[in-house]
Amino acid sequence: MAASLAGRDLITIDDLSNREIETVFALADEMSASVREHSHLCQGMIMASLFFEPSTRTRLSFEAAMNRLGGRVISVAEMGNTSLAKGESIADMARVVGTYADIIVIRHPWEGAAKVVADYAGVPVVNAGDGGHEHPTQTLCDLYTLKKEKGSLEGLKIALWGDLKYGRTVHSLACALARFGATIHFRPSPGFEMPEHVLRKLTTEYSGRLERQNGPKDVDQDGLFPLDAIYVTPSGPHQLANIPAVGIQMEVEKGVDALYVTRLQRERLGKTQEGGGSAAAYPVVSSELLKGRKFKEAIVMHPLPRVDELAYEMDADPRAMYFKQAERGMPIRMALLALLLGCREGSTTGARGQEYAQKKGYPVYRRDTGIGCPNANCVTGQESETRYIRPEFQIISSAPLVLRCVYCEHEVHPQYVASSKWHQGILEKKRYYRADNPLARRISPQNVLAFDSEAAAQAAGFKQGGRSGKRVPEKGA
Ligand code: CP
Repeated sequence: MAASLAGRDLITIDDLSNREIETVFALADEMSASVREHSHLCQGMIMASLFFEPSTRTRLSFEAAMNRLGGRVISVAEMGNTSLAKGESIADMARVVGTYADIIVIRHPWEGAAKVVADYAGVPVVNAGDGGHEHPTQTLCDLYTLKKEKGSLEGLKIALWGDLKYGRTVHSLACALARFGATIHFRPSPGFEMPEHVLRKLTTEYSGRLERQNGPKDVDQDGLFPLDAIYVTPSGPHQLANIPAVGIQMEVEKGVDALYVTRLQRERLGKTQEGGGSAAAYPVVSSELLKGRKFKEAIVMHPLPRVDELAYEMDADPRAMYFKQAERGMPIRMALLALLLGCREGSTTGARGQEYAQKKGYPVYRRDTGIGCPNANCVTGQESETRYIRPEFQIISSAPLVLRCVYCEHEVHPQYVASSKWHQGILEKKRYYRADNPLARRISPQNVLAFDSEAAAQAAGFKQGGRSGKRVPEKGA
């Protein structure tokens, strides 16, 4: 039996177990079979719809869903029309809106903003897209479409195409696919590869194996974005883990079940002033481009909106599924709202997914040693939010020390470490070490102090420790 979803938040796709995802799908089936029969289910409930970035599908399908369920909607579609424009923090906004509404759906340009709203609102919060971080309800629409069109979510082969760096939909989707045992082919636009912290998560959290491809980084002879990496689930049917490169190439030639196309996220390039790749070299996905064997059985997906990356003539191709993805957004969001609001309990009939332990219990790093999230778009770095948010990280590796921001999931690799315990108040023993010093491995997560420079370590009262690893702390210290 899946745990009740009533009262819960959906900030990342990992907030739902595989079984809970299947539970949402079972109710979405019911909702789409008889949309008008649920018109009293959420009567008396109010959904706050806060969209601080443009949206057509997500906002309108959530609002339509709440209306179809008999609930009411209060909404804001521009930050300039709220007191955020006067410098109010999103935490204060969340506290207030949480007293007006029974559930909050928020889209915000800052990564981690939805988590902050969830931390303060006191009512369930749904992330409708937080910067380039995640878009978990789009992933529900994508998985639902894959299940409908391919019959099952288990062991699929999916190619992710385009801007994998800033595309939040593919960040959520890659994690979900890995959990359902997929093989994932990464075909990024050069310079827009999947962020390393997402790739790391695939291997550390979901135990799969990543096969990097070191071929040319340009569009290939078939006009396709180059294959940058393949993720393989060990227990999956496409067992590539032990076969050589030639085997991987044969496997790639066999084709994929779906091609997931994304547009170049131009709005994020402008804000962060980075990118690196050539926006001009972005092949247009068309029936002609997909005429080869690799894509014969592949449904073509896209979260929409499309710009130039997907030909309009593709719409008549039976493989095109992007408008169905958008259409399915409403029953999916009806089901989700009803479950989070506690207006319906989920039925596990048809919910065969494993009770996947979606969140690993990493130790947390909360010390004030000057380490901050390196992501300029993270909520923790915004002026209005630094008054109350303190950087917080999961310690996902001790040797070397790797910290993951709990808000945006970007990683920090501190250069210097010390122990809060070894010196036991004795000044002479207060030593810091390079993070790659073997001694650093001996510091337990609850005692580790991380610094991004020697100056920061020295300012905290530590002296330089042995670089060779010969200086061993006293036994029992
Ligand atoms: N797929 C998606 O998020 O579309 P909108 O930006 O129109 O909501």
